[in-house]
Amino acid sequence: MTTQTATPMLKVEDLVKTYKTDYGDVQAVRGINFEVGVGEVVTLLGPSGCGKTTTLRCVAGLERPDGGSISIDSERVYSDTGKHTPTHIRPIAMVFQSYAIWPHMSVFENVAYPLKVGKVKFTKSDIHDRVSQALAMVRIPELADRSATMLSGGQQQRVAVARALVKEPKLLLLDEPLSNLDAKLREDMRLEFKELFNRTGISAIYVTHDLLEALVLSDKVIVMNHGDIAQEGTPREVYSQPRDQFVADFMGAGNLVPGEITDITADRVSMNVSFGTLVAPLIPDVKAGDKVTIAIRPESVFLSDSAAAQGGPSFECSVTTEAFLGNHMEYLIKLGEQPLRVRSQNINEGALPQGGATIYAQIPPDACIIISTDVLAEPAPDAIEQPEKP
Ligand SMILES: Nc1ncnc2c1ncn2[C@@H]1O[C@H](COP(=O)(O)OP(=O)(O)O)[C@@H](O)[C@H]1O
Ligand SMILES: [Mg+2]
Repeated sequence: MTTQTATPMLKVEDLVKTYKTDYGDVQAVRGINFEVGVGEVVTLLGPSGCGKTTTLRCVAGLERPDGGSISIDSERVYSDTGKHTPTHIRPIAMVFQSYAIWPHMSVFENVAYPLKVGKVKFTKSDIHDRVSQALAMVRIPELADRSATMLSGGQQQRVAVARALVKEPKLLLLDEPLSNLDAKLREDMRLEFKELFNRTGISAIYVTHDLLEALVLSDKVIVMNHGDIAQEGTPREVYSQPRDQFVADFMGAGNLVPGEITDITADRVSMNVSFGTLVAPLIPDVKAGDKVTIAIRPESVFLSDSAAAQGGPSFECSVTTEAFLGNHMEYLIKLGEQPLRVRSQNINEGALPQGGATIYAQIPPDACIIISTDVLAEPAPDAIEQPEKP
């Protein structure tokens, strides 16, 4: 749930981590602040190298930060005045991208391991009960006696999660746990994780570079860029109102169009763009004459052979490229000189009129997001992505 209690499960303040390397200092994390509420699942989302893993490893105590403070359940575990609680004392468990399953042990032994090496002593029957419960939780009770070398990728993944849950940590840390699985399994596991988080009510940080995983799994998304937090909010907030070009690109709102505000009503803004007039939902602090950058969602533009505008302004366009991507179509179109990517769920052949008929692009207000009150440099539209190889 997104309700933040007064005392969060995790509080990270001004966290800084710099790696010293032969080729100079790498500022991996540049003074970030965030919280994880009790029972909340927070994702750190961002491209490779933005500092997600480093942040997680600092929380886990596997990395010693260079500044700031970290508290778990109101206990200071790191401060720049010298406190640094070792990993095994912190009430956390981590699931690594590589799973780190021990091949010389059975599934049962792998999952039981944290109970056997910890400071708290568990009886044999206690261990048996807890391991059985953890294996049931990830739906592989029947694999207890299997050798760890005899597991598929998905099964190894479940063992790693069971091993993390067995000590009932206050905070679960997951670093791209699905990225080594194939696309189909990743989709299934995504939903299983969601169900698991709901069922256990656990507090968790989930690191991923995958937008859908972040949107599906989290109460709160933290988008990271170059060691900083670019934006933080509910999945809906960061998706529908990206704060800048970086977040907009990451949210797949990749068409960026420069414009100038001409008119403002109670809930709408009209803007002059190179191919006509666009309408977007109102945002605060804008006035007529402001130059803006508008992100246009590829999946919210509709192509048809009729200029009759149902949900918004409609513009004559030409289709430069079209590609069939299995469950959707991608089009590159041109509105005058302005290129635009369009994504359509209508995959029927001949969905677009053939034979030189005029085609119109409808761009409803909800497709348009004003992401900046500056005109940003306009990147060239990417080539149409190819479907993932099975
Ligand atoms: N052990 C390390 N030594 C030096 N540089 C590192 C080390 N670990 C990570 N980095 C650098 O820190 C930055 C952030 O890395 P990382 O936290 O792994 O990012 P992410 O998990 O988002 O891909 C990157 O520039 C990376 O190259
Ligand atoms: Mg990483």
